[in-house]
Amino acid sequence: MRKLLFILLSWAMWFPFYVHSDAPEPQAKIIGGIKSGTNEIPWQAYLNMTFGEGASERTFICGGVVISTDAVLTAAHCIRNGSETAKPENVRVWVGITSIFSAGSMNSVSVREIVLHPNYNSSRFANDIAILKLSSTLPDGALPIRLASADEQQRADQAFANGWVSDGERQPNLLVSGWGSTDANDSSSGATRLQQTVLSGVPDNICNSMWGRNINSSEAGIFLCAGSVSPTLGRDSCFGDSGGPLVWQDPLAAADSDFGLRLVGLVSFGEGCAGRLPGVYSEVAGQTTWLEGEIGPGFLNQATPEFDVDPFTANYDGAGDAVEGVQSVASGGGNSSGGGGNIGIGSLLLLSVVIGFRRGVVS
Ligand code: ARG
Repeated sequence: MRKLLFILLSWAMWFPFYVHSDAPEPQAKIIGGIKSGTNEIPWQAYLNMTFGEGASERTFICGGVVISTDAVLTAAHCIRNGSETAKPENVRVWVGITSIFSAGSMNSVSVREIVLHPNYNSSRFANDIAILKLSSTLPDGALPIRLASADEQQRADQAFANGWVSDGERQPNLLVSGWGSTDANDSSSGATRLQQTVLSGVPDNICNSMWGRNINSSEAGIFLCAGSVSPTLGRDSCFGDSGGPLVWQDPLAAADSDFGLRLVGLVSFGEGCAGRLPGVYSEVAGQTTWLEGEIGPGFLNQATPEFDVDPFTANYDGAGDAVEGVQSVASGGGNSSGGGGNIGIGSLLLLSVVIGFRRGVVS
């Protein structure tokens, strides 16, 4: 059974999200999210990976995170298709955009090198992190976000422990964003406009017992779990959000020009979406030594970025205008519908595989 689960797990991970192509149709939210404002999430990257050739060519989408002027982080599983690792020329990266209609052939930033985490384990999703080293400079609208320090991660864990309520309203202390599925029951759904939602950090021990396996304890500090702000609200990341940012706000730095926003995780895996189990993210605070070695010492000494808005206190309507208050914790979430997308017929076969996994085990 365990073996089967892992086989299913690894298969599911090959299909982050199949790119949709047809005209958009109205859909609900990320899962339970709201639209991001223009420049509200300037560290968000949009990724297209192409594997195979000719008739077997497949393109998948993932999220990514700008962490320096020349590096984007994503999930390792996003750039792998079975044993094949994507080549830099087959990974297209867009930053500084909120609508995928802005992702054109001329404005992607090129990747010169892809570095998988040396301890990435594709069957357990351990260290599900990869670095995309960029060869072009960041366009307007894109800004790096700082990683949480070890001390900040410790305080975040404390906040998760204090803010967690098993059967009631929890503290909204994390923000996740992406263009992935907006409907937990429809893996072909996807947003054309970037979506974001607030989540609650799930303490490691609680995440372990909910999942019924040691997500955290065997290798402390490489996984981080996040769930909905209330058991009755379906909020989560989903297919196609992988590799994207999970952000915590350090209250001690909230007055800084970056509002104390810190990258704590990358979307990695879950059981379906917005179900009974929390989503699991690759924790990044413990990866700074590896990242510094790859990106260079300047990476940890960057000037504090200047962000326009604090996404934990701002909220946007569909037109991208700020409206009052953060995303409600009590209500269904958004105040506008996101754009959805259709999937090409050729992918139906693949999708049914994905849907099968989602019903059965994990995605
Ligand atoms: N593996 C999915 C992807 O590749 C992300 C799944 C996240 N699932 C969740 N329930 N949070 O896009």
